[in-house]
Amino acid sequence: MTKSEVVKIILENHQSAPVAFGEAFAPANIALAKYWGKRDEELNLPRTPSLSVSLGQYGSHTKISQTDNGDFYMLNGQVVAADTSFARRLGLYLDLFRPDTDFFFRVETVNSIPTAAGLASSASAYAALVFALNDFFQWRLDKTALSILARLGSGSACRSVYRGFVEWQAGTAESGMDSFALPLAHTWPDLCLGLIEISSEEKPVSSRAGMKRTVQSSVLYKNWPEKVEKDLERLKTAIEKKDFALLGQTAESNALAMHATMIAAWPPLLYWLPQSLETIHKIHRLRDEGLPVFFTMDAGPNIKLLFEAKDKDDVSHQFENIKIIQPFDWAGEKT
Ligand code: PMV
Repeated sequence: MTKSEVVKIILENHQSAPVAFGEAFAPANIALAKYWGKRDEELNLPRTPSLSVSLGQYGSHTKISQTDNGDFYMLNGQVVAADTSFARRLGLYLDLFRPDTDFFFRVETVNSIPTAAGLASSASAYAALVFALNDFFQWRLDKTALSILARLGSGSACRSVYRGFVEWQAGTAESGMDSFALPLAHTWPDLCLGLIEISSEEKPVSSRAGMKRTVQSSVLYKNWPEKVEKDLERLKTAIEKKDFALLGQTAESNALAMHATMIAAWPPLLYWLPQSLETIHKIHRLRDEGLPVFFTMDAGPNIKLLFEAKDKDDVSHQFENIKIIQPFDWAGEKT
């Protein structure tokens, strides 16, 4: 099935009446049990479920309107050149929603995550874009449909349609209509994330290419689905019981197992830099000394710490230039 066939099914029986502009916010998210490996490359259908925590008020704000003579994109106040991979990818995605071929979009996105934190922003960007399109065309789609549309832009974006803990169920349908995110009922106000930037350079191999290579060539990948399944259960128990050690251990072990599958791929995918490893050793040393701090990593060299609010001072004292986020500290924010 193609993306445009899925879009057609979702938008069936929904009016499409553009207004002056559409506008929306979506949070970034960090996976605690990772999405790594697709069963369908076109529709971004995952081989396993995954579980993330959204970053509260940190994410992308997008405004969309119609314009003449070609698409026009702005990111954080800067015009995005049409020949960049960012613009090409966005243009192809927007093609799915143009009422006719000479309908053009103006898209302005502002990321409230400090770009220096080296955090991937495609998840919040595609979720905010889908919300903004929904507002602009007045589709009035529900969150399940919006999650599916966001997935077509970037897999992990389907989790950014909700705040808090979010599970992306893998689904089994060929159409992917059962592969979308759902929010978990529990919150964890004391949970903290610490973003440590090791490098803000674009990664040498994209997640898309990295996943494909891992699935095709990594001898360890066959163990990955079972690992995720177990970790998902452990994480849900940890969240329910507010068992921080279980949450931290599970998230760290899951991230390291994902990196093990990457390292065992050919050509090997080694996203770590010397400073990543140095930071990992430091985290382990601090833990040995009694500070309950854990980490997770995505397809890049940057590190995201996990700890509790009671240890905020100790953690910020240990890591220079750390950006601390309390994901559930968003009282008063609107979704
Ligand atoms: O959504 P993508 O294609 O950027 O893939 C995200 C992959 C990881 O960040 C490594 C894991 C995850 O679940 O977010």
